[in-house]
Amino acid sequence: MNISFLLNGESVVLSDVAPTTTALDWLRETRGLTATKEGCNEGDCGACTVMVTDPDGSSRALNACILFLPQLDGRAIRTVEGITGPDGSLHPVQQAMVDHHGSQCGFCTPGFIAAMAVAHLNGDKDHDTALAGNLCRCTGYAPIIRAARAAEDRPVPDWMIADHDFFLPEISAGGSSNQGFDVGGGKPPALMQPRSADDLAAAYAANPEATLVAGATDVGLWVTKQMRELGQVIFLNRCADLQRIEPGQDRLRIGAGVTIARLIPAIEGLHPSFTDMLRRYGSAQVRAAATIGGNIANGSPIGDGPPALIALGAVLHLRQGDARREMPLEDFFLDYGKQDRRPGEFVEAISIPRQPDRLRCYKLSKRFDQDISAVCGCLSITVSGGRVAQARIAFGGMAGTPKRAAHVEGALIGQPWSEATIDRAMQAFAQDYTPLSDLRASADYRLEAAANMLRRYFLEDTGQTAGIMEVKP
Ligand SMILES: Cc1cc2nc3c(=O)[nH]c(=O)nc-3n(C[C@H](O)[C@H](O)[C@H](O)COP(=O)(O)OP(=O)(O)OC[C@H]3O[C@@H](n4cnc5c(N)ncnc54)[C@H](O)[C@@H]3O)c2cc1C
Ligand code: FES
Ligand code: FES
Repeated sequence: MNISFLLNGESVVLSDVAPTTTALDWLRETRGLTATKEGCNEGDCGACTVMVTDPDGSSRALNACILFLPQLDGRAIRTVEGITGPDGSLHPVQQAMVDHHGSQCGFCTPGFIAAMAVAHLNGDKDHDTALAGNLCRCTGYAPIIRAARAAEDRPVPDWMIADHDFFLPEISAGGSSNQGFDVGGGKPPALMQPRSADDLAAAYAANPEATLVAGATDVGLWVTKQMRELGQVIFLNRCADLQRIEPGQDRLRIGAGVTIARLIPAIEGLHPSFTDMLRRYGSAQVRAAATIGGNIANGSPIGDGPPALIALGAVLHLRQGDARREMPLEDFFLDYGKQDRRPGEFVEAISIPRQPDRLRCYKLSKRFDQDISAVCGCLSITVSGGRVAQARIAFGGMAGTPKRAAHVEGALIGQPWSEATIDRAMQAFAQDYTPLSDLRASADYRLEAAANMLRRYFLEDTGQTAGIMEVKP
């Protein structure tokens, strides 16, 4: 199949692309666009940041090292070469980086420029957050942040918005975007890019051995770090219906293809503590790619989404062909690396019941940004008439799966909402969890930290100071 996209304002149509060619390799090795750098090759450093504009006209910064070429289909990409104007004029963020001495060796600079140009285009003035996924080892961040501030109110150059004119004419004229999707008969292609959940269901049911790729923030690393051959690949990113967020009277239904970046504003007014935690999920580049469906389906014991969703009583919607089933999210995680998912079955959506907000999420990691949780505790405890009426508590980083704290909940429910109850419930953590020691934390530390999160919840809920030295955004 063909893939078409706009590269620095020029139309590109590619055929017979290997599904797991990364945008970074293609840019550097095939197109000679070597300004975009390879640092870590795993989404951590931002040296490979590019700007990607979607068909709806929204632009985001993505890490090209874990972005497969088919994910660009129907989109526009700008590298630092195309952030400079066609006549060589500097973009305001480039000029500001010169004026404020924001670059020394320069290795990180193209990635910073791409991330800054996206923030500038989007009117995003929270520079610390926008640039948290870009590492610089020599200049120091102060001059870079000064440059971002200096450019923030300068007008967006014309060439940066020209990409928006691309979508309708180009897509209707050719490329892959107007091709039908056929899964019936013949040899299945190595690369499939269904346009709807129905097409995906048919394709995956017919090819259950295929690898599903959503945001590729996990799968990208299988290729760049583990050198895995993926065989047949089905990309989910063109299934528009998987990207819907549907507010209902009694629940909020979130399509599996919704990125973490889009999830944040959707739940901000409902469960602000969840959104505070998600702001610490990876970096802007990672949140713009990673989907909530991928965060659940990968079954990771240290993913940040599942503990919060379990504490909220979320329901998982699975689909296999035309058959659908649903289950409480916690039942999906059977054991380490094992989920209740049948061949050809995929995550279609997750829904969160509407409820008064009692959720608090505590993410414990060594760094504030761009770090995986050592322990992620999510607690939702309802108190009525001075007693605990309901408790849903789930942790990541404490077992081989995201796991509910059944004994802790049992020690709370029906008891007075008091220090004595908390003391007793904290003892129950050892019945629920036998965590591992690893590079992030020892087992004892995890157990103690998790129990202390319950105490913190109580102190915060009863208006007492928790005395936590916490880094805030
Ligand atoms: C630099 C970096 C930082 C990170 N930081 C965090 C963090 O702070 N917190 C955190 O929780 N995670 C973090 N992650 C992990 C990662 O972002 C998540 O697990 C992510 O949500 C995966 O989603 P994805 O869309 O990228 O999935 P993909 O990589 O595309 O897929 C992941 C897995 O899920 C499967 N899959 C995807 N969608 C579906 C579906 N709809 N149905 C069935 N199977 C599906 C794929 O086949 C694959 O097995 C980080 C990753 C990187 C690279
Ligand atoms: S090379 Fe480090 S994020 Fe891509
Ligand atoms: S200028 Fe050298 S790494 Fe940033």
